[in-house]
Amino acid sequence: MRQYKIAAIPGDGIGQEVIAAGLQVLEVCAQCDGGFRLQVDVFDWGSNYYKKHGVMMPEDGREKLRSYDAIFFGAVGAPDVPDHITLWGLRLAICQPFDQYANIRPTRILPGIESPLRNVTAKDLDWVIVRENSEGEYAGQGGRSHRGLPEEVATDVAIFTRAGVSRIMRFAFQLARSRPRQRLTVVTKSNAQRHGMVMWDDIAAEVAGEFPEVTWDKMLVDAMTVRMTLKPQSIDTIVATNLHADILSDLAAALAGSLGIAPTANLNPERKYPSMFEPIHGSAFDITGKGIANPIGTFWSGNLMLEHLGEKAAAARLMRAIERATADRSLHTPDLGGSATTKKVTDAVCEFLRSDT
Ligand code: NAI
Ligand code: MG
Repeated sequence: MRQYKIAAIPGDGIGQEVIAAGLQVLEVCAQCDGGFRLQVDVFDWGSNYYKKHGVMMPEDGREKLRSYDAIFFGAVGAPDVPDHITLWGLRLAICQPFDQYANIRPTRILPGIESPLRNVTAKDLDWVIVRENSEGEYAGQGGRSHRGLPEEVATDVAIFTRAGVSRIMRFAFQLARSRPRQRLTVVTKSNAQRHGMVMWDDIAAEVAGEFPEVTWDKMLVDAMTVRMTLKPQSIDTIVATNLHADILSDLAAALAGSLGIAPTANLNPERKYPSMFEPIHGSAFDITGKGIANPIGTFWSGNLMLEHLGEKAAAARLMRAIERATADRSLHTPDLGGSATTKKVTDAVCEFLRSDT
């Protein structure tokens, strides 16, 4: 029997609700498959932990996580703790030292879900966004001086390294090559940012030489928002910087129906460190505790985790169960215009897993 150690970090707000649902579904996946077992440990890190201990996670937190095969993460963010503390104290504190430099965000319109774009259906929108997840605008370089004085100054320096850009480009070209359309769009802003972004473009062109099968093009990030909205069919795989992909992937999630559906994987492709899987949404204060959070983004993240663990059959079974659930409007949560609860969707997905033979 194959065995995987999973570290679950539900975090804050609806993170607690969707991770509980996700763990329930993953357990059923393992039972139905019969070939593997998940050993799950839940960590209570997040904003409540911060209020008690003054840190988002213990000092040796990362050491604790190192031996796990994967991390299953909910969300962080609380109304009474500044976002830069929660984000840097937990999520980025895991992603960066674990060198999870490739953040992938599949986006497509699942059965039964309607895009807010008129006449756009599943065949028109099937993307994977690859986000550079280790440097760029979120490298953490910068500072703030002369606080409160008229001459106060603050900087955030975007860092682009040849090593960092080359590895994400290679990852994106490989991913694009593995998809049926073999098409990649490199998002840039090299008209305005003439150092880092120009190097980004140069390296893209160099790496493209290693992938003759892949058709690729380059698009300024502002124009990319227009293309995503008006010509979604023209896009397949996308690679963008940390900041650009952060923004574009929220747009992508909205165009595919709801933020509540969208999954993501923070990968350390070399598998030197554990990778982390999470829904892309945040802790959603407005619906916390109401039992109506859409768990589909978390389930889909679970599917990405199973794939990463090499459990392809279980991953495919989970995706079929997810699509059966979205296809049924009575299983839509309020973000999709329905009235189903998290529990109702979760129970249905478990049932679909069991009846899938
Ligand atoms: P959010 O993603 O939490 O919520 C945005 C909107 O989408 C809200 O109206 C919310 O109700 C809805 N929504 C999100 N997920 C949903 C789901 N599963 N089902 C149904 N509706 C859903 O983003 P917001 O409001 O900007 O941020 C709230 C907090 O979350 C902040 O503290 C922010 O920093 C944090 N955050 C954390 C992230 C993470 O941990 N990866 C990502 C984004 C935000
Ligand atoms: Mg975001």
